[in-house]
Amino acid sequence: MADWTDCLNFGISVAKQASEIVLSAFQQQKEVKLKSSPADLVTETDQRVEKILISAIRTKYPLHRFIGEESVATGECLEWTDSPTWIIDPIDGTVNFVHRFPFVAISIAFTVNKQTEFGIVYSCVEDKLFYAQRGRGAFLNGERLHASRQEDISRCVVVTEIGAERDDLALSTMTSNIFRLLKLPVHGVRALGTAAVDMCQVATGGADAYYHIGMHCWDIAASAIIVQEAGGVVMDTDGSEFDMMSRRVIAASSAEVARRIAQVIQAFPCRRDDED
Ligand code: IPD
Repeated sequence: MADWTDCLNFGISVAKQASEIVLSAFQQQKEVKLKSSPADLVTETDQRVEKILISAIRTKYPLHRFIGEESVATGECLEWTDSPTWIIDPIDGTVNFVHRFPFVAISIAFTVNKQTEFGIVYSCVEDKLFYAQRGRGAFLNGERLHASRQEDISRCVVVTEIGAERDDLALSTMTSNIFRLLKLPVHGVRALGTAAVDMCQVATGGADAYYHIGMHCWDIAASAIIVQEAGGVVMDTDGSEFDMMSRRVIAASSAEVARRIAQVIQAFPCRRDDED
């Protein structure tokens, strides 16, 4: 079995270097552009950080491929192959970044044969480095992570996001999903504004579940393996196998909790990330 530890360590070091750029821009006024909706934003820092990350990694690993949020936003084709592939979100939580709400992350996943080998989520303002390597556990700043293992939905804190989709069907589906969960009841519903950091809360045991419809593969690819390696489960919102291109995810402390959420929530149609 190939050992990708050097790649993981290199990914961590470039994420930490790139976070200096995110942090120095964080307090400043930003020029903001809209992408797919009034809640889907990009700044010059998102684009700059992605270019720096890809260029550093490509210099060291010239044969590796990349899927980057801002490259795709500017028209690059999203092609996920069996080759070693780095899936990058330079700033997950761009709305937070623009408003200086202190949860923004650099998210990097690495896949080979379409299997995730490791994931890195660096929550820059909090200085929290989450990472996991397949079969080797999940860590936060070097400390091993364990999901809560909670099996009773009525004792759960559930994290979710309204997301960037703002058409009537998406909004009514998402708000009624929250209503139905609260009526189960669950202990609480939370949102930090970054899918990557939200999902890592399940890995820490601080939250018991997370679900989201409409995010993209770069938002959740890294945190999915972090949750799994912490002992949690990930699946599609319809209860089927997790598919990082489907734009739907449930991450939970246990299969029981994930399945209960899948029974309660509904999805709205989203174009797959890998659709032509
Ligand atoms: C967004 C964040 C947000 C989620 C959106 C994502 P971005 O990513 O993860 O929490 O609700 O669906 O698009 O645009 O900040 O990288």
